[in-house]
Amino acid sequence: MALITFPEDFIWGVATSSHQIEGAWEENGRGESIWDRFSSTPGKIEDGSDASRACDHYHRWREDIELLKWLGVDAYRFSIAWPRVMPNGKTANPAGLDFYDRLIDALLRIDVQPFVTLYHWDLPQALQDEGGWANRKLVDDFVAYVDLVTGKLGDRVRNWITHNEPWCIAFLGHEVGQHAPGHQDPREALVVAHNLLVSHGEAVGIIRSNSPKASIGIVLNLVPAFAASPDEQDERAATIFDGIFNRWFLDPIFRGSYPQDAIAFRNRRGDLETDEPNFIKGGDFEKITTPLDFLGVNYYSRIVVRAGKDDEPVAVKVVPDKDFTDMGWEVYPEGLYLMLKRLKDEYGIGCIYITENGAAYSDRPGEDGKIHDERRVRYLRDHLIQAKRAVDDGVDLKGYFVWSLLDNFEWAHGYTKRFGLFWVDYITQKRLPKNSAFWYRDVIAKRGFKIED
Ligand code: FCB
Repeated sequence: MALITFPEDFIWGVATSSHQIEGAWEENGRGESIWDRFSSTPGKIEDGSDASRACDHYHRWREDIELLKWLGVDAYRFSIAWPRVMPNGKTANPAGLDFYDRLIDALLRIDVQPFVTLYHWDLPQALQDEGGWANRKLVDDFVAYVDLVTGKLGDRVRNWITHNEPWCIAFLGHEVGQHAPGHQDPREALVVAHNLLVSHGEAVGIIRSNSPKASIGIVLNLVPAFAASPDEQDERAATIFDGIFNRWFLDPIFRGSYPQDAIAFRNRRGDLETDEPNFIKGGDFEKITTPLDFLGVNYYSRIVVRAGKDDEPVAVKVVPDKDFTDMGWEVYPEGLYLMLKRLKDEYGIGCIYITENGAAYSDRPGEDGKIHDERRVRYLRDHLIQAKRAVDDGVDLKGYFVWSLLDNFEWAHGYTKRFGLFWVDYITQKRLPKNSAFWYRDVIAKRGFKIED
């Protein structure tokens, strides 16, 4: 029997995001978001659903706080809905901001630290109508929004996150088209990625002045890439994937430039006209490299690629179906260790939080009334073992957040994918702890767990 334990001050948490749980689309002056619009467009969401009710958290937040208390978490990561606090993206709506004000006070009363994400994808539609993130003017709007929120809540919030997963915003939203606003324009996606990075850098300064005692970070979704064979071409494709996915954000933030090999690849594909794209303005990298207090890592899986035409990375499946979650993502815990280690060794990154890790499995209440999601327990346990390995190897990992507290609206998958520690009955809105919730609660209480040797 081995004991996997974490430092006493390690932060155990769970994560959610506004659009995925709140519902109450039209309440207290909330404006339309790009996800409201996108979900109303036929064919965009797998089950034809939308998040107008979701987990009804906007009304049930007190009950949800009880769940956090029951779990015994140290921290709760959630996001602020920009269209709730600025319905048209520009004008403040005090009633919207009050919701988060009350939520934060209630969390602090039970000694749960809020980790607040400022942008988790729900852009006010009014700003999309002006071009959205493809329009550089949005940087100023974002900074004004951040100023409003952190000015009001910065006295109590000690951990701020600027953006959640800029890769998804830029590329799923503007190149693949699977996420709002649903565009398919690679060049636009690159512009969006850049504007997001600039807005991140500018926001850090504003947060520092409004919330001087706070730690500030950004959350990246990082996916280690492996070649499907030892062929040189496949190896090249894996490196390219890493460049256009991971390093596209890590390099600007921590090294002050885009990765040259990935720029060259984008150039070859015709997505960029030159090696020095004209959307980069003088002084941008100074902003983007504004020092941070932590990096948030969302880790779910790895990717295995082979080389397609012109070394284009093409994903391949190399293991049996049982090793995949309902998202079709391979369960590959070691990738978490490798990524954390790399962030320390290659980028010299200090403080890191795992801001999301979790699995979609469809287990529902059985005849005994329990939810036997042992696959989720195994997933979380095996990733925590790898996280601990990283800590032992000197990675300054400060905390871990399970995605997610509740089953919720999983973007383009609607309600077909369930990531929660708590099962949600979307008709009655009842929450029911899955076996993984009991397990996680025990891990938190003991600051670790035992494993068979
Ligand atoms: C991440 C998102 C989060 C959730 C999980 C499953 O990409 O940040 O909102 O959808 O995936």
